Amino acid sequence: MTSSTNAEEQLTLPNRQTPFPKAFVEFIPTGWAPYPSALPEALPASVPAAGRRARIAAAFPGQRLVIPAGGLKARSNDTDYRFRPHSAFAWLTGLGSEREPDANLVIEPDGAATLYFKPRAPRTDPEFYADSRYGEMWVGTRESLEEMEALTGINCAPISDFADTLTADLDTVPVRLVREADETLTVRLDGLRAAAGVDPRSEAEADAQFEVILSEARMIKDDFELDELRQACAHSAVGFTAVVADLPQAVRRGRGERWVEGVFGLHARHLGNAVGYDTIAAAGDDANTLHWMRNDGELREGELLLLDAGVEVDSLYTADITRTLPVSGTFNPAQRKVYQAVLEAQAAGFAAAKPGNKFSDVHAAAVAVVVRYLNEWGLLPVSIEESLDPVNGGQHRRWMVHGTSHHLGLDVHDCAQARQENYRDATLAPGMVITVEPGIYFKATDLLVPEEFRGIGVRIEDDVVITESGCEILSSHLPRDPDAVEAWIAEVWAD
Ligand code: GLY
Ligand code: MN
Ligand code: MN
Repeated sequence: MTSSTNAEEQLTLPNRQTPFPKAFVEFIPTGWAPYPSALPEALPASVPAAGRRARIAAAFPGQRLVIPAGGLKARSNDTDYRFRPHSAFAWLTGLGSEREPDANLVIEPDGAATLYFKPRAPRTDPEFYADSRYGEMWVGTRESLEEMEALTGINCAPISDFADTLTADLDTVPVRLVREADETLTVRLDGLRAAAGVDPRSEAEADAQFEVILSEARMIKDDFELDELRQACAHSAVGFTAVVADLPQAVRRGRGERWVEGVFGLHARHLGNAVGYDTIAAAGDDANTLHWMRNDGELREGELLLLDAGVEVDSLYTADITRTLPVSGTFNPAQRKVYQAVLEAQAAGFAAAKPGNKFSDVHAAAVAVVVRYLNEWGLLPVSIEESLDPVNGGQHRRWMVHGTSHHLGLDVHDCAQARQENYRDATLAPGMVITVEPGIYFKATDLLVPEEFRGIGVRIEDDVVITESGCEILSSHLPRDPDAVEAWIAEVWAD
């Protein structure tokens, strides 16, 4: 874009922006220090990303693979959410927080990769001062082509060259696209395909297969990923401890769930990139709403706080941890009973989380314990066996409607596009990272449960990596045993 006349600018500027006079346009590029000549160091994640690109290229020989970062998403009107790239893009480039809106990674049929993005424009370009999405004056200094190459180790090209790449040989070279990463690009490519005489419907199906393979490729974590997940868990423990310290204050101030969310968010933002998913700060009966993300309730003495929260580190790997904490520092007998049952279910889940077992065995082991307790408490309307019958039973699910595990990584529900045979029915293997998170939820309105249990919801969630012989708990910094939880709270409050 070259400088335009004031009249032209008035036509294109947002209605509240004052036009830039010629004198300003001439003055603004002058008198700035040069950009640093030293190139940045490579991102740590860029090293394993190179191997991943090679593996994916080998799985799709002769095809052009397009992995978009995705664009900025509007929160309201012209205000966007903080940018987070699509996880497949992060996995294949090593780019993490804030990088890089509207970029596309392309792996050519011969395996060569190019990262197309919008490099920063020179200060003589109106982008510098007039572009609120990309301009240095608005969003800070962004990378040059050379700097992005240094960060990622990938050959880089300006996004303006991407259109030619997308249309090149479209009728002869199949293009695979991660459709869910960028809807606008998906519509554009489907249009180009139709124009080139390629059937967009069969191509869309092939794209979906591509997404499945990409999702499954992320199931076994490498050493870099495990270190990042360990870090995410360690940072999350700091956030949980800060929440424990503030429990009395959260009660006193009122609107306590908001305070809890804020305290955890402070540490997530400070130590990592952000929270890896919306925090669930659920006190009392709110804990029985599984996706309680409103977090707008009170914290009351004597009740439990279910806190499901995780720090996402700068490379975008996230923890996913739940602790159910007595707000006053000690469990009452009914709370302790339910808590103990969930803890025992989780221990059974850990024991089943080992190579050779199926992913679904972890759930089966945990649920077997939950059902035994529900039966002992006289809640099951049928026998244990009948309730566990997957076709004709399921009564126990009234009190634990969710699964016990999911894969964890760049996405909190990682590898979600994997096929059932490679997920739920798959055999666990070393390097897989999953959660183990049983719960028991007794709604205040549930007239089938004894009064002492009503309004109690307990979940205990930890993150484990499958090892050669069993599993290692990555989130073991935080106590689980009820006595240890009480001692931890007392210790934090004594500090
Ligand atoms: N925090 C979401 C989950 O536990 O799956
Ligand atoms: Mn989870
Ligand atoms: Mn969770």
